[in-house]
Amino acid sequence: MTGVDDKTGPSLVLGIETSCDETAAAVVEDGRIVRSSVVSSQVDLHARFGGVVPELAGRAHLALLTPVVAEALERAGLAPDGGRPPVGAVAATYGPGLVGSLLVGLAAGKALAMAWHVPFVGVNHLEAHLFAAGLEAEVEYPVVVLLVSGGHTVLVEERGPGDYRVLGQTLDDAAGEAYDKVARYLGLGYPGGPAIDRIAAEGDPAAFAFPRALYHEGFDFSFSGLKTSVVRTVERHPEAPTADVAASFQEAVVDVLVTKARRALAATGAKGLALAGGVAANSLLRRRAAEAAAGDGAAVYVPTLAMCTDNAAMVAAAGAYRLGRDGPTTLSLGAEPNLSLSGRARAA
Ligand code: KG4
Ligand code: ZN
Repeated sequence: MTGVDDKTGPSLVLGIETSCDETAAAVVEDGRIVRSSVVSSQVDLHARFGGVVPELAGRAHLALLTPVVAEALERAGLAPDGGRPPVGAVAATYGPGLVGSLLVGLAAGKALAMAWHVPFVGVNHLEAHLFAAGLEAEVEYPVVVLLVSGGHTVLVEERGPGDYRVLGQTLDDAAGEAYDKVARYLGLGYPGGPAIDRIAAEGDPAAFAFPRALYHEGFDFSFSGLKTSVVRTVERHPEAPTADVAASFQEAVVDVLVTKARRALAATGAKGLALAGGVAANSLLRRRAAEAAAGDGAAVYVPTLAMCTDNAAMVAAAGAYRLGRDGPTTLSLGAEPNLSLSGRARAA
């Protein structure tokens, strides 16, 4: 079976994601229905170095991508069938991210699109994160999206799919970067977010009053001072339980994120608050965001953990949307490591 018998055009999109340390492929139908989503994490490969090693990541993508794509097609019930293309289009992330990693997914996506004679779409990884919530829930727009990942912390007003305005962003470290750096300093290993999340559950969040930068103003964030403050505190109080430091750090991060998200809800009159990105997997942030939205009479969209962290279903969904709106992307598209949310791939 091919799954495309009764479908026309790009109703099935193969998504490919290789921007950082997850090798992922997925098949999404009609831009909304996840037929398969396969993620092969390289966490174990990078853990002993305390962070992602770009050179190793690129090489691992190269080895993993072909089997991951094959598995995504198979799980979606799509076998190559008499030369017929298994999908109607191929979408791949072209930025932001590590250049060597991006190039692997981008080259594979273009090659598959050419071989199958189907359109290719280059996808902005940040825009893809914004499509994650819509794959699991019927989103009622406008919403405020708090996109918090290892590389980005952005507060967005989204008036409809693909229609958004950046309200604020981090002026230095991303929230996930702060988690990873503090975890590393505390000897909790990599990736830091889940490690701090776990140990913080046993600590006292009021043990230390860490700074909350820009707390009373605007929508921008700053986390580098917080990281420095954690280091100074541990230097002054070497006896302090790590769980207390982690819990107090997490309390400061989540307090700032949720306070700014509520401010954005009030300023925009949005009907709901959506979380996106790896840090949205954080248990305290998920709880506080839900409480805050409920308190403000707004809906809350908290994707499952797998949909918060990097995956290719969100890439396929964003690709389906961009294909419908802007058409196929030029095959001369290159990787753009520093792409911003407003960056768009040039049409073919
Ligand atoms: O979106 P993502 O998978 O990759 C990027 O695009 O960056 O986000 C990864 C980030 C890492 O910094 C990781 O430490 C953080 O998300 N993260 C968490 C949790 N799970 C992942 N941060 C806090 N709490 C978590 N439970
Ligand atoms: Zn991401």
